[in-house]
Amino acid sequence: LRGDDVIVVSNREPYIHQRRGERIEVQQPASGLVTALEPIMRACSGTWIAHGSGSADREVVDRHDCVGVPPENPAYKIRRVWLSAEEEAGYYYGFANEGLWPLCHIAHVRPIFRSSDWAHYVAVNRKFARSVVAEARTKNPIVLVQDYHLALLPRMIRKEMPEATVITFWHIPWPNPESFAICPWRQEILAGMLGSSILGFHTQFHCNNFVDTVDRFMEARVDRENFTVSFGGKSTAVRRYPISVDWPPDPALLAKPVEQCAADMRALNNFPAGHRFCIGVDRLDYTKGILERFRAVERLLELNPEWIGKFSLIQVAAPTRSSIDEYQSHEAQVRALAIRINERFGRGGRDLPLPIVLKVEHHDAGQVYEYYRAADCCFVSSLHDGMNLVAKEFVAARDDERGVLILSQFTGAARELPEALIVNPYDTDQCAAALHLALTMPVDEQRNRMRLMRGLVAEFNVYRWAGRMLLDAASMRQRSHLVE
Ligand code: G6P
Repeated sequence: LRGDDVIVVSNREPYIHQRRGERIEVQQPASGLVTALEPIMRACSGTWIAHGSGSADREVVDRHDCVGVPPENPAYKIRRVWLSAEEEAGYYYGFANEGLWPLCHIAHVRPIFRSSDWAHYVAVNRKFARSVVAEARTKNPIVLVQDYHLALLPRMIRKEMPEATVITFWHIPWPNPESFAICPWRQEILAGMLGSSILGFHTQFHCNNFVDTVDRFMEARVDRENFTVSFGGKSTAVRRYPISVDWPPDPALLAKPVEQCAADMRALNNFPAGHRFCIGVDRLDYTKGILERFRAVERLLELNPEWIGKFSLIQVAAPTRSSIDEYQSHEAQVRALAIRINERFGRGGRDLPLPIVLKVEHHDAGQVYEYYRAADCCFVSSLHDGMNLVAKEFVAARDDERGVLILSQFTGAARELPEALIVNPYDTDQCAAALHLALTMPVDEQRNRMRLMRGLVAEFNVYRWAGRMLLDAASMRQRSHLVE
């Protein structure tokens, strides 16, 4: 990549500058996408274009709206795109997160499509396209477009810079054609995405759904042999690139011995010696199956009362998109269910730990890794998830080869980690049985399963994810030179 002009474009920025009185605080958002791309950008020092969302974001940029990051030791730059409150409401909260997010997750939340949101979505995509053109140093940059906020961007870039190589990665699932048909602007979205040279999804299943959707709704030529789509004189390769985590993990995250993590977590949560716990880490999002997870804990305690007072689920839930109604009512349901289960199986006069410890707050990577390292098991119960990086982070955190992963069959990760206990989150009895199995699994079996999972994550790390996309782009560029 050295010498190439590399630009990443995403809605969410990897560093957010917030004003706290006299000080400016730098935050890193809870986003699988950011976690995955940040190490890559550090390695290849390009430009990352994103929405400047922090209260002090404007104070730290230069006259081109750029700032070097990471703040302590800049390795690449962020170029910030400024959005008005109306644009953010229509493009981000509205079309992207009330429309496309539930549409693609088929999470039984009805997508909401307002034409005013769509107008903002189009306008904001155009704004990002202008920033890409302004940032490009050559007429043929490699542009890495990220996710469902920017579906129209590939075609817009192609119009301005026909020689650019546009790699688009869709981090969330792609539904079947019948489901996608709900979107009133389905053709515009598809045409926008087909401006890409390469279009990536986490799983072959989502690639198939996408190609079927194009076949159904567009005047395009679909080549199922090579998995390419030709539309408007341009060909797009549709490929599977399962995302992953940094490997080897940052040594700072593994520095504290597992026993010490366990002792610290017990002290922090007032757990007695020998108390067992499972960890859940998610954004507080209705696609993550947090209610289903709590119901599984309730069922475990009904069926196996010996765990009452001896087992807890610690649920770390980072608040997210909280101005959307559906997220507010989901948060209320999560809190209410935790209270009900804790009342039912809680202290009962004795000083026992509660079955559900709900922490609705943002945790940094260091704290999350301590939980991963201290836990008996990690429970990922998404109702639908493109990949789910929590599953892979838990595996990366367990250099002691202990701990059990319980993983929803509806995640991309389940296809790569079959040694996890694979469950259907809608099947409460099965999830309760998996919890019991995890808590009673012999050490040898834990080790055998964990070793296989660690082997997979070590081999297919996040560098491989990005590397494969960029290699495919490089050979595409070479081929087009040969044709010329
Ligand atoms: C998912 C999406 C990302 C998004 C992240 C956090 O991982 O695929 O694009 O950044 O959630 O959500 P937020 O709305 O806070 O950016």
